[in-house]
Amino acid sequence: MAKKIIKEPSRTLMEYRLLPGYTTHETSIDNISLETCLAWSPEGEWKMKLNIPIVSAAMQSVSGVEMGIELARLGGLAFIFCSQTVENEAAMIRDIKSYKAGFVDPFYVNPDMLIGEVFEISKSKGFNTFPVVDVNHRLLGILTKNDYSGTHHASLKVSERMIPRKDLVVGVNILDIKEANAILRESHQSVLPIVNEENQLKFLVFRKDIRNHMNYPQELLDEQKRLLTGAAINTYDYEERVPALVEAGVDIVAVDSSDGFSFYQKNTLAWISKNYPSLPVIGGNIITKEGFRFLVDCGARAVKVGMGGGSICITQEQKGTGRGLATAIIEVVAERDRYYKETGRYIPVVADGGIVDSKDITIAIALGADYVMMGRYFARMEESPTEKIQIGSRIMKPYWGEGSARAREWKSSRYYQMKFAEGVEGFVQYAGKLRDNLPETLAKIKASMSSCGVKNIPEFHQKAELEVVSALSIREGKVHDIYMPEELAEYKSEKY
Ligand code: IMP
Repeated sequence: MAKKIIKEPSRTLMEYRLLPGYTTHETSIDNISLETCLAWSPEGEWKMKLNIPIVSAAMQSVSGVEMGIELARLGGLAFIFCSQTVENEAAMIRDIKSYKAGFVDPFYVNPDMLIGEVFEISKSKGFNTFPVVDVNHRLLGILTKNDYSGTHHASLKVSERMIPRKDLVVGVNILDIKEANAILRESHQSVLPIVNEENQLKFLVFRKDIRNHMNYPQELLDEQKRLLTGAAINTYDYEERVPALVEAGVDIVAVDSSDGFSFYQKNTLAWISKNYPSLPVIGGNIITKEGFRFLVDCGARAVKVGMGGGSICITQEQKGTGRGLATAIIEVVAERDRYYKETGRYIPVVADGGIVDSKDITIAIALGADYVMMGRYFARMEESPTEKIQIGSRIMKPYWGEGSARAREWKSSRYYQMKFAEGVEGFVQYAGKLRDNLPETLAKIKASMSSCGVKNIPEFHQKAELEVVSALSIREGKVHDIYMPEELAEYKSEKY
């Protein structure tokens, strides 16, 4: 006889609906904050936070450098996949950490070059502003398109046409785009050179770029104003991978494992706690309260919940292990809350796998999750690392599981040792840029929270009221019994 047989079926997020609460001006959409705790930190509960409750999955077809940059600029975080060499993963982290929105790595010229040569460079590169530096990289002046004519000044030296350093407004050691903007606003220049105290050129900030960067008010930055980023690690090469990722500047790592309640995960977390005690680690995945306790006792600072629900996942079919995500969240969150009462440590719960749209995100958070991890949602975006392809009349992007045959070609995939696949390969419909999709998803989450009469995520956790719905009531909640031709349908499901 089995040790435990639960008669109550486990439930998915789709089976729950929220009951509205009392909405006031205080809880109107514009007043709602989606800030959430990213990981427990000894320096304070909310020391590590996300500006939106969404991270991207550590998958080859989801989280590369472009995703890492754009998602952090929009307030979330990407977890760079670990099914690649240590060097490649560390290089991706380095690229994200060295990205400075609005701070352009300058292409410079020297004062003795001829304007004719600069003009040729300008034609081939497609830009026409050139800072001028000496051999020690010190700023001597700047040449903008108003300062030279490719035909009339071709035989003059750069030094004869540049605006000299003494006549320029420059920023010294400025790393904040808002500060750079304030200086540019008061100057008459279209570009601001940023130098260090030795007058060595570091960046250029262009007036025309600033408006674009002001469109990212939720940017998730570290104390040095660099974008925050996460990386996945596995349970076998962590002694080599973690040091390289830390060296590259990673802010948080997540153990990428389909079953986190294991001896392997314990060893990994113990090694990190001993060697990198200040590096936050997310453990997972687990779906029971015992799994949660195990991971936090091993040192996890956040815990990923979910098994068998991912859109590319065939774990349940292959192994028979798994649980409806809603049931898993409910059980783990109750244990998290008990743990908090006992220890004063708030461990964020991350809902992972099978989260399709804004409604699922909202229900997961209402049930007590602090943020969600999604793969399919992000695989559809321009910023995922795959190429678009046309299939029939549709533009699609490929999407494959880390446990699929395709991902397992990489020897250290989390599923590598398996003799069979736990994931599949398929396509998702191309959705466009993240910047054009995410705001709508966030607006819907805020609208639900407003209806429930809450103004932030901690309040949502305390006040949300949910109900299980029948299959018929789910059907009733969709468009039904009308004819809706495609060309008239303003309504667009996020699913496809
Ligand atoms: P999605 O958002 O439904 O597409 O699920 C993404 C999640 O599925 C990831 O964050 C992983 O936890 C999980 N996952 C990724 N690859 C595989 C796989 O090959 N098999 C099973 N689960 C996977």
